[in-house]
Amino acid sequence: MGRSCRGLDRRRCAVALGFLLCFFSALDAREIESRHDFFSQIYNHTVATILVEYASAVYISDLTELFTWTCSRCNGKIEAFEIVSIIVDVKNCLQAFVGVDKNLNSIVVAFRGTQEHSIQNWIEDLFWKQLDLNYPGMPDAMVHHGFYYAYHNTTLRDGILDGILHAKNLYGDIGIVVTGHSMGGAIASFCALDLAVNYKVKTVQLMTFGQPRIGNEIFSSYFSEHVPHAIRVTNRNDMVPHLPPYYYFFPSKTYHHFPREVWIYDIILGSLVYEAEKICDSSGEDPNCSRSVSGNSLTDHLCYFGVDLEAETWRACNIVLNLDTPNLLTDHNGNFVVYRSDISPFIKSPMENYRSLQSS
Ligand SMILES: *[C@@H]1O[C@H](CO)[C@@H](O)[C@H](O)[C@H]1NC(C)=O
Ligand SMILES: *[C@@H]1O[C@H](CO)[C@@H](O)[C@H](O)[C@H]1NC(C)=O
Ligand SMILES: *[C@@H]1O[C@H](CO)[C@@H](O)[C@H](O)[C@H]1NC(C)=O
Repeated sequence: MGRSCRGLDRRRCAVALGFLLCFFSALDAREIESRHDFFSQIYNHTVATILVEYASAVYISDLTELFTWTCSRCNGKIEAFEIVSIIVDVKNCLQAFVGVDKNLNSIVVAFRGTQEHSIQNWIEDLFWKQLDLNYPGMPDAMVHHGFYYAYHNTTLRDGILDGILHAKNLYGDIGIVVTGHSMGGAIASFCALDLAVNYKVKTVQLMTFGQPRIGNEIFSSYFSEHVPHAIRVTNRNDMVPHLPPYYYFFPSKTYHHFPREVWIYDIILGSLVYEAEKICDSSGEDPNCSRSVSGNSLTDHLCYFGVDLEAETWRACNIVLNLDTPNLLTDHNGNFVVYRSDISPFIKSPMENYRSLQSS
């Protein structure tokens, strides 16, 4: 506890879900089903409250604070994190990091959301995103090219793969968890799919917060086949998961979420408001989860589990780097990777990365 989002004055009483469901199960028969799901491996609330802090920390623009893990968001549940590398694509204003969470015993890969002048503009643009790219190797699977290329056609992909290889060399063959918020969640999804499909990583888990839709229904069924351990957490009336729009009367042409959503919502009892979570069905578009309410809140987009999910300040792409011993690798576009001094990263060709991941 102890965290709360700035500018959020709603009072809410969050209680342990298990307790809540036992206590109020008589109110709503559906909750009994969720209780069953909650204790299976589909969704772990504790893990969600840890990963959301990584999705928040990756917004920090002071790379020295991030690299030394001393930033204001780099404490609490994510204190025991060993950073391996930070990857920055300057041209496209993208940022990600790779490291190891010793408590989770997993490699964590986190992607930052948009850091443009105005998140409102970014959200408005989402209305008009087209399904304009065929996902390679998946017949009839369509995605939005912008999110796809943000991962595949920037510094991110090679930087992430390199970081994962180093993490595996340093810490052994442990699992991989990929996370991100908003646009960072969309990029994280393409990363998890890439690891599963192109690098045959069987242990990849994905958990995103407030992510938009990224592809059509055929894409989403491929996605859940390859990345079965995927959770999209949606907070109450967060508008972004409602975008680009879903047209149920136009199933072959519409965007369609991949499963599985976990929806945070309020149970109101008199003057008390309780935070609850619903584990949604395996369709990706459960009508009784976030789709049962209108997506009209920006506030709900920027705060998950009491954790701030936005840049510290909204302005033009901002990168602060002031390392004494710059373990810094740059390319001719000015993009760079900051890496631990006991590793020697180099951007390998995808084929080399492939061999290395296979043998580990
Ligand atoms: C959820 O994850 C935490 C942290 O890894 C673990 O300690 C706990 O046992 C898990 N809970 C369930 C119900 O699996
Ligand atoms: C991929 O990135 C390069 C360099 O930034 C750019 O010139 C090219 O247009 C991009 N490709 C696509 C299909 O967006
Ligand atoms: C889902 O919502 C619909 C109405 O939209 C309702 O008829 C149905 O019973 C609900 N299903 C469950 C499992 O709650």
